[in-house]
Amino acid sequence: MLRKKAHIIGTGKYLPKKVLTNADLEKMVDTSDEWIRTRTGIEERRIAEKDEFTSQMGKMAAEEAMKNAGISAGDLDCILVSTLTPDYIFPSTACLLQDLLGAGNITALDIQAACTGYIYALSIAKALIESGEKSCVLVVASEKLSSIVNYEDRSTCVLFGDGSSACVVSGDPKGLSIKSLCLGSDGAQSHLLKMPGGGCRNPASPETLAQNMHYVQMAGSEVFKHAVLRMESSSKECLSKAGLREEDVNWLVPHQANMRIIHAIAKRFTHLPKERIYQVLRKYGNTSCASVGIALSELLAKELVEEGNHLLLTAFGAGFTWGSCVLTMEKDTVL
Ligand code: UT7
Repeated sequence: MLRKKAHIIGTGKYLPKKVLTNADLEKMVDTSDEWIRTRTGIEERRIAEKDEFTSQMGKMAAEEAMKNAGISAGDLDCILVSTLTPDYIFPSTACLLQDLLGAGNITALDIQAACTGYIYALSIAKALIESGEKSCVLVVASEKLSSIVNYEDRSTCVLFGDGSSACVVSGDPKGLSIKSLCLGSDGAQSHLLKMPGGGCRNPASPETLAQNMHYVQMAGSEVFKHAVLRMESSSKECLSKAGLREEDVNWLVPHQANMRIIHAIAKRFTHLPKERIYQVLRKYGNTSCASVGIALSELLAKELVEEGNHLLLTAFGAGFTWGSCVLTMEKDTVL
């Protein structure tokens, strides 16, 4: 049997309308626009409405991705949802999305790899397509981080925003060919970035609430160092797996967590002009696993990717998890 190669044939994104600016945060915690801009590169972020959830934001991004791919929900045979802010612990957000999309009784499952989730989900989609197990996989990365951020903790609340991204992966030889993927993890560092409450170790109780255990907790500067090292090394490994050199990269699409992290990774790609490192951090903040997909979708929508271009995606997050992916735009099929 002739194995089909996996391709991203359409992408989409969704950002809630409500904007939370640095000036708004100055009124909420002891911070300043100057500190946030110079330490992170973030100027504003989007916040979902109280009654707007991860599944619904995922639906918006998915519909755009399916429209761009020229398919409908009936063509899908699998839905993968990456999120660390699911609507519920169970049932999965993927099942809720299957219903919202009217996708039929297809395979649907959630993937939890924190900020690296989009790339982890892509690797599973690629394996499903290339093994012949599935023919059309919807990947959605969606986050309502505002539901787990403590807006009294200045060290985290200035960083995160809500949003979602999606792509359709199939064996059609068009769009972005998924050339290589490299994934990794290090659970020994799990304590540095976590939400301790709500699971079976610390089920919700008055005590867990009193101890703020249902919010994101992060040792920022420790996470920073690991993020730079891991994204650098996995980018390098992924390029070599694809048979490419650093100078072959036309676009770098990194996880959008901190401008200084992005600049540190960019140092490796000395030939790449700054404008070829695609950034949406300034306007959306850190949207966790949605961030790489949001940036990719925006880059494609602006028609900035040309045929034959090589794109390098790279991400890092809680777990720790990290991963990179090389994509190449096929000839005559610019998305
Ligand atoms: O997406 C998953 C992966 N996440 C990341 O990759 C995030 C990685 N970490 C970071 O981006 C950065 O570490 C942060 C932006 C979170 C923090 O930047 P930093 O340069 O590492 O600052 P720091 O934590 O070392 O804190 C420096 C100072 C401290 O004050 P003192 O102790 O020096 O007096 C903090 O209390 O900045 C203070 N600070 C703030 N000041 C004003 C921390 N947050 C704020 C704030 N406004 N919002």
